[in-house]
Amino acid sequence: MNPVEIIKHKRNNNILSHDDIEYFINGYLKGDVTEYQMAAFLMAVYFNGMNDDETFYLTEIMLNSGVVIDHPDLKSVKIDKHSTGGVGDKTSLILAPQIASCGIAVPMISGRGLGHTGGTLDKLESIPGFNIHYSIDDFRRIIIQCGVVMIGQTDMLAPADKRIYSLRDVTATVECIPLITSSIMSKKLAEGADGLVFDIKIGQGANLPDHEQSLELAKKLLAISKKFGKKAIAILTDMEQPLGRNIGNWLEVEECIELMNGKMIPDLYKLNNVLAGAMIYLGGKAGSIEEGEKIANQKLIDKSTYKKFLELVEIQKGDVDYIKDWANLKRAKFKKEIFADESGFVSKMHAMDFGFTAIELGCGRKKTDDKIDYLAGIILKKKCGDEVKKGELLYELYAETEEKLAAGVKRSEKAVEISAAKPVLPKLIIDILE
Ligand code: URA
Repeated sequence: MNPVEIIKHKRNNNILSHDDIEYFINGYLKGDVTEYQMAAFLMAVYFNGMNDDETFYLTEIMLNSGVVIDHPDLKSVKIDKHSTGGVGDKTSLILAPQIASCGIAVPMISGRGLGHTGGTLDKLESIPGFNIHYSIDDFRRIIIQCGVVMIGQTDMLAPADKRIYSLRDVTATVECIPLITSSIMSKKLAEGADGLVFDIKIGQGANLPDHEQSLELAKKLLAISKKFGKKAIAILTDMEQPLGRNIGNWLEVEECIELMNGKMIPDLYKLNNVLAGAMIYLGGKAGSIEEGEKIANQKLIDKSTYKKFLELVEIQKGDVDYIKDWANLKRAKFKKEIFADESGFVSKMHAMDFGFTAIELGCGRKKTDDKIDYLAGIILKKKCGDEVKKGELLYELYAETEEKLAAGVKRSEKAVEISAAKPVLPKLIIDILE
C-alpha cells in the first residue's frame, strides 16, 4: 500500500476500506506515514467526511493502537464523561471527584487544549507537581485507592489519538465529526468505563457550532458506545458564551475550587449538576437524572467533592498547599482591564473570540511544542444578559509578557456585544439523548 494513494482516495471523496485505514494509522505510528502525510489525510477527511463504517473502523483501529484497560480488582461501577470541547469548560475537575465521592469509580483519560478550546490535562498541570503520566498498573492502583484517576494518553493508551490530536490542534482539522468521534471514543473505550456521559457543545464557541452537526455527533457517539456495549447519555449544551467566569488553566482550577467551596457560579453549577446527575443515574445510584442531581448537590454542599479533589491532587503528586492557598489569587504578571464603551445589556460574549484570545495570552498552543503560561487567562466580570453602564468593567486579561497581553487585547476587541434591549438567552441544557 502507498500512503499517497490513500490520501488521494479520500481527497477524491471515495470510501476507505478497513485495511486502508489500518495501514494508514498503524503506518503513522510506525513512522512509515509522515507527519505531513497525516496532516494531508486529516484535511481530506475534514473536507470529505467518513461514513459510519469508516468512522467505526477508524475508532476501532485507534483504540487497538494501544491496550484496553480492565479493572479486575475494582468492585464499583465505572462511569466517565467527555466533552466535545468548549471555552471555560472545566466541569471534569469537579465531576471526577464528585462522582467518586458517590461510590462510582471515574477512570478518566483526558486531552489537552484543542483548537480554541481548553483541555483538562493542561488545567491539571497548572497545579504544580500534578502528574498525568502513569503506567496502566498505576492507573489501576490509583482508582482503587482514590475512586478516581485523571491521566493523559500514553504510548499504551490510544497512542494514535495522542499523536493525531496534537496534529489536528495545529492543522485546523478539529471541527470534523468522524475525527472527533474516533478521538473521543478511542480514549474513552481504552479506559475501561462501563458507561459514558457526553457533553456535546453547540454554538459559536463549540468545535461544531451547528445544531444539526452536533446532533449528528451525539448520535454517532451513542451508536459507537452501543456497538462496544457501553451505556451512554449525550447532553447537548450551549457554548455561545464561555462557561463560568474564568478562562485559562489555573484560573479555571481556581473557579472549580471556589464552586467546591460553596460559591454559586450559576451556569457552571447548573451544567455540572446535570452531567453529575446523568453519571450517577448511569452508575445505577439514582433512578433518574433528576434524582442523581440531588445526590450530586449534596456532595457539593457537604464538601465531600472538595475533600475528594484534595485526595486526588495528593495521590497524583500535586501540591495540595498550592490548592489550599487558592484564595491568595495567583495571577500572571501583566493585567489589562477592558471597559464597556456604551450602556445597555451584554447580548453576546463570543466564546470563540475568548478562546482564541486565551491562546494569544499564552493559555494554549499555536505549535505542538509551545509552552503554556498556566496563570494567563481571562476573568469575565459580566455575562450575557447582564446590564452594563458605559465605563463599567467587562473583563480582565492576564499574560506573562506585554506582547502576549497586547495580542490578547487585540484578539478580544469584538468579543463582547452590547444591545439596548435585554437579550433572550439560549437554554444552557438544550437536549438530553439516551
Ligand atoms: N475531545 C476529544 O478528545 N477529541 C476531540 O476531537 C474533541 C474533543
